[in-house]
Amino acid sequence: MTELILGAGGMLARGLARERPGAISLGIGDLDVTDSAALARAIVPGVSVVWNAAADTRVDLAESDPAHLAVNDVAVGVLAGLCRDAGALLVHVSTDYVFDGRPGRPWREDDPVAPVNAYGRGKLGGERRALGSGAEVLVVRTSWVFAPGGVNFVDTMLGLAASGKTELKVVDDQRGRPTFAPDLARALVRLAGAGARGLVHFANSGATTWYGLAKEALARAGYGHVRLVPCATAEFPRPAARPANSVLDTSLYERLTGETPRSFTDALDEHLRLRAEAAGT
Ligand SMILES: NC(=O)c1ccc[n+]([C@@H]2O[C@H](COP(=O)([O-])OP(=O)(O)OC[C@H]3O[C@@H](n4cnc5c(N)ncnc54)[C@H](OP(=O)(O)O)[C@@H]3O)[C@@H](O)[C@H]2O)c1
Repeated sequence: MTELILGAGGMLARGLARERPGAISLGIGDLDVTDSAALARAIVPGVSVVWNAAADTRVDLAESDPAHLAVNDVAVGVLAGLCRDAGALLVHVSTDYVFDGRPGRPWREDDPVAPVNAYGRGKLGGERRALGSGAEVLVVRTSWVFAPGGVNFVDTMLGLAASGKTELKVVDDQRGRPTFAPDLARALVRLAGAGARGLVHFANSGATTWYGLAKEALARAGYGHVRLVPCATAEFPRPAARPANSVLDTSLYERLTGETPRSFTDALDEHLRLRAEAAGT
């Protein structure tokens, strides 16, 4: 039986490739998930699991360019239908941005969704197509993903500090749970192996703001001298609105696997270690 990892090259897909060394990793150059005919040639009987890590994660661009819908929404439906027909398990990933962000307790899987941006609406479309397909499906929502070599907030902050910036203004009124992509990959494998199906939330432990995340990352990387200035979202206008509170409740994950996600600060330490190794320092 064959396992496929789609979206190879992305942060999550690289983690999955390490966790599932026997799986075939396909990047956009090998298999563009918006090409239904190519998907149909790849997802055939004999494929046991499809790990879908392909996504268009450009949240701001999504506001003006509907191209993200082909990947994040429509393709997921095609993929799920093919998995159903082939008898394969589809493991798909969604986002905390399906929630509107009103303050309160962390978001549970059955809480009402109301995305505040186009990316969130597209991802919600994708998860609904997957869950409604009749295929065997696990959809895991996650948040604030980082890993070495990817486009992510932690590395952006580290890059700015390395370039000599001594003061950075960072948004301090959006709360979420940072997630280390290799931990997410392990969580997907653990959930799938435990027979979990349907919708499950996963993120590292510890809720913070972007300011709080920047502070932890810079201090741990030896950039404690960089002055961080907390600011409001309104002072930092972006094309896409962001939910103010997208903290995910992971108690279902904990019940299903018997594991508590490690803290994002421990994950940051590993992230920094891996970056240093990759840089040969
Ligand atoms: N990043 C976050 O903060 C975050 C937060 C919440 C949820 N998520 C979700 O987590 C999952 C994993 O994302 P990630 O963080 O690993 O993102 P990522 O690093 O941006 O990886 C996504 C990968 O998908 C590929 N891709 C894009 N369009 C494709 C297509 N048409 N066919 C095949 N591959 C395509 C990308 O290739 P190119 O780079 O060549 O375009 C990239 O390698 C996604 O479902 C994402 O929506 C991410």
